[in-house]
Amino acid sequence: MNQDEEKLLRSVALQNAQAVLLARERAERALLAANEALERRSSELAEQREFFRVTLASIGDAVLTTDTEARITFLNPVAETMTGWKLEDAVGQPLEKVFNIINVQSREPAQNPVTRVLREGVVVGLANHPALIALDGRETPIDDSAAPIRSASGNISGVVMVFHDVTKQRQAEFQLRASNQELSEVRDNLEKRVQERTAELAAANEDLRQLSARLLYVQDEERRRLARELHDSIGQLLAAIGMNIGIVRSQSDQLDARGARAVSENAQLVEQVSREIRTISHLLHPPLLEIAGLASALRWYIDGFSERSKIKVDIEIPEDFERLPNETELAIFRIVQECLTNIHRHSESETAAVFISQESSRLIVQVEDHGKGMPKEKQRELTESNRSGVGFGGMRERVRQLGGTLEVKSQATGTTVRAILKVGMND
Ligand SMILES: Nc1ncnc2c1ncn2[C@@H]1O[C@H](COP(=O)(O)OP(=O)(O)OP(=O)(O)O)[C@@H](O)[C@H]1O
Ligand SMILES: [Mg+2]
Repeated sequence: MNQDEEKLLRSVALQNAQAVLLARERAERALLAANEALERRSSELAEQREFFRVTLASIGDAVLTTDTEARITFLNPVAETMTGWKLEDAVGQPLEKVFNIINVQSREPAQNPVTRVLREGVVVGLANHPALIALDGRETPIDDSAAPIRSASGNISGVVMVFHDVTKQRQAEFQLRASNQELSEVRDNLEKRVQERTAELAAANEDLRQLSARLLYVQDEERRRLARELHDSIGQLLAAIGMNIGIVRSQSDQLDARGARAVSENAQLVEQVSREIRTISHLLHPPLLEIAGLASALRWYIDGFSERSKIKVDIEIPEDFERLPNETELAIFRIVQECLTNIHRHSESETAAVFISQESSRLIVQVEDHGKGMPKEKQRELTESNRSGVGFGGMRERVRQLGGTLEVKSQATGTTVRAILKVGMND
């Protein structure tokens, strides 16, 4: 080897040595960097672990996790308290042993949601109202859900269950149900009482109606009896007295002037009393009503009324007005009689009119005057509350018995009373 060759070899060797040194330096630097990264990563991991540990420990809900075989891998402190299991004892145990749930109503074991989560990979809520039985037998109503834990690649690596104590909620629900139940019982009771009271009132009303119907009937009968009594008994007695006075009068030449005048006056007085008794008797019960019918009886009554009251009364009844059942004719007669008496007593009207008309099965009886009208509050009583004087009360009852209605219209220019009756329906 010559000198040049030797120089070359040395220089190559030096270069090689330098390259090796450089490579080594690089490798050492890379190692150092990798070590640092590893340390950073593991400290980060430790921080994350601590973060999750603290988070799970501070969470108010119980949390437990299982592996894919449904064996416990983790319990947080709340889960420890609720199940009665310590984490170290629970890890590796089958889920059912630690998380022992039953159906509150049936007391049967409740279906565990973990199997379904593992099979279907979905989030599952618990069956209706389960209760968790702790290791020491304590029973806690719970609400919960279970969800799959997935790795970064998307595979299911276990199940996480979150549950919490719902004792207070269940108690509140129970109380709500109880008070709802109580409330509906109270309401039912109240409704029942209202119904009973309504039925009682309806019965009392019906009794009252029957009583007033009976009263009207008794009143009519009493008037009829009094009318007959006056006519037949007192009328006959007066006639007898009249005849006796006639006998005395025929011998009045045997009396002095005073005695003869007294006898003659007596004859006139007896005649006057007879007439008045007759009128009273006929007003109490018009004999024409049954014999000649409503139209004639009304005409006779209205003539007498006009004469006594000085109120001019027009009457319109159809020429061909037919006879109606006795009680209908009497009711109409009494209604007209009461209306005209009212006009005389209350209206200050100088005229009045009575219209009777018939349209198929509807009979309309209308009595009107041109007087001062009824006071407003009287009208309200009559229309709103059914409260009225005996006069209107009686008219209303008579109309009701005949299946009709009574209308009253009154203003400062006069009053109209209109009874609408159903007739000829049952013939
Ligand atoms: N035509 C009328 N014009 C003005 N007011 C009337 C008329 N008819 C009735 N009234 C009023 O209506 C009230 C009630 O009449 P209703 O016939 O029921 O009783 P009453 O005539 O007072 O007594 P009664 O029971 O003796 O008939 C009367 O008191 C009167 O104030
Ligand atoms: Mg009256």
